[in-house]
Amino acid sequence: MLNWEALDAACHACQACPLHETRTNVVFGVGSHQAELLFIGEGPGEREDLTGEPFVGPAGKLLDEYLNAVGISREEVYIANILKCRPPRNRDPKPEEEEACLPWLRRQTALLRPKIIVCLGRIAAKRIIDPDFRITKEHGMWYEKGAYRMIATYHPSALLRDPSKREEAYEDFILIAEAYAALHGKDRA
Ligand code: URA
Repeated sequence: MLNWEALDAACHACQACPLHETRTNVVFGVGSHQAELLFIGEGPGEREDLTGEPFVGPAGKLLDEYLNAVGISREEVYIANILKCRPPRNRDPKPEEEEACLPWLRRQTALLRPKIIVCLGRIAAKRIIDPDFRITKEHGMWYEKGAYRMIATYHPSALLRDPSKREEAYEDFILIAEAYAALHGKDRA
């Protein structure tokens, strides 16, 4: 198995789908290699494409607010996306782009071995938890898959578009923080 450095380098050279032709930067992922919490988004937006870092644009600022609100720091988690390259004009990823890109995320997950996986939004939840996942109905529910506990919440971009869902998302983040604290036998009440 490739180590983090080799995996990062190989991913930066990826030409497995046509998105490599339009990307400015590959957005591999950031965070602690010891993280027990893995957040998975959809794919890079404009700021992410320009900087090479996930969730640094407006959606990222909102994600940071939720993390801060429940006492989790960005540095202690790992953040990645289904797609490592930006789809033009932020359109939804195509299934074949997701297929081409998923081996990178699988290898990242194998290296990280997180305890909890949080899918940010419908696209990640459908790919990671269940192809029929309904985000409005099934966000905030726990799923067990192999060694992982998984949960999905609304994508921060969706919360920017529809602030009426923010309270529900906050409740999801409380559940996530409680499960995270419980890994260490802490009670977050
Ligand atoms: N939206 C995502 O899904 N991922 C990012 O990295 C930024 C915005």
